[in-house]
Amino acid sequence: MDEPSALQATVDHLVQAGKGLLAADESGPTIAKRFQRIGVESNEESRRAWRTLLLSTPGLGEFISGVILYEETLGQCADDGTPLPELAARQGIVPGIKVDKGKLALARAPGDEITEGLDGLARRLAGYRQQGARFAKWRAVFNVSDQLPGRLAIEANAQALASYAAICQESGIVPIVEPEVLMDGAHSMARCADVTECVLHEVFHALHRHAVTLEHMLLKPSMVLPGKEAAPAAPAEVAAQTVQVLRRTVPAAVPGIFFLSGGQTPTEATANLDAMNRLGPMPWRLSFSYGRALQEPPLLAWHGEAANAAPAQRALLLRARLNGMACLGQYQPALEEGAG
Ligand code: 13P
Repeated sequence: MDEPSALQATVDHLVQAGKGLLAADESGPTIAKRFQRIGVESNEESRRAWRTLLLSTPGLGEFISGVILYEETLGQCADDGTPLPELAARQGIVPGIKVDKGKLALARAPGDEITEGLDGLARRLAGYRQQGARFAKWRAVFNVSDQLPGRLAIEANAQALASYAAICQESGIVPIVEPEVLMDGAHSMARCADVTECVLHEVFHALHRHAVTLEHMLLKPSMVLPGKEAAPAAPAEVAAQTVQVLRRTVPAAVPGIFFLSGGQTPTEATANLDAMNRLGPMPWRLSFSYGRALQEPPLLAWHGEAANAAPAQRALLLRARLNGMACLGQYQPALEEGAG
């Protein structure tokens, strides 16, 4: 297949009605933090066990079209020797890979951060592709305060995201462009909306400069929300403000917008996505690419015990199903565990 049709085939698979992505690409320190909560030590074996459990969940492919993996997982196998990317692919779930190398302080810009990982990216992508990856993810983060993020951080991160996306497309890999405006802090929803609009505007300007084909990428933004330390907002308000910012900044050529959950509870993340999809027809498909909001309930059910695999998988499948319904604006809160 030539490059454009390979990219189109991946996009067509990922962007399906009622389906979203599972983000299971936590770095070493992040997965250690998640495991600590349930008293499980993070080592290669415990990470393999957890991610095998996720990917072997019966029926997951009905609601999940792609999974974002961490580099280590790409090379790991299930107990029966099946490579984990293949385990996903067998369920109709396309394997993807996080390719950024994390963030560090942006020099001369106190409080701002920059994501690194462009060096050698084309070479790494060729290897990931051979291991089965068909799409990639790069996350840029923006801290929010009255002053942050600064102009330099917005421009430098947009430039890196666009450069990454262009390299991916050249390598036959669909890029997921993830600019995350963080929820940390007590800022207002209006402040989050302002920052998100500036960030997305700059990101699409950079994507244009780098000649990225918008039809062959996905956007993974944060929702417009008040800071975690401020009073929460109702789903209808989150939906209205988020969609307004997206309409102002994201060209209709982008096939899908797959939100991150970013510290929302699983139920909030589902209800907010559902509220957006109840607003009527959109230029793009609005879906989910959740990490914590999909994995938290199964993680709590698992507790590191192989004997808990079945209840953990049921908990994952329920979250995936509810989010699948939210993609269609058909979420039913009564189906939540313990509801009614
Ligand atoms: P959360 O949904 O937990 O924010 O994770 C999504 C993700 O991929 C962050 O990079």
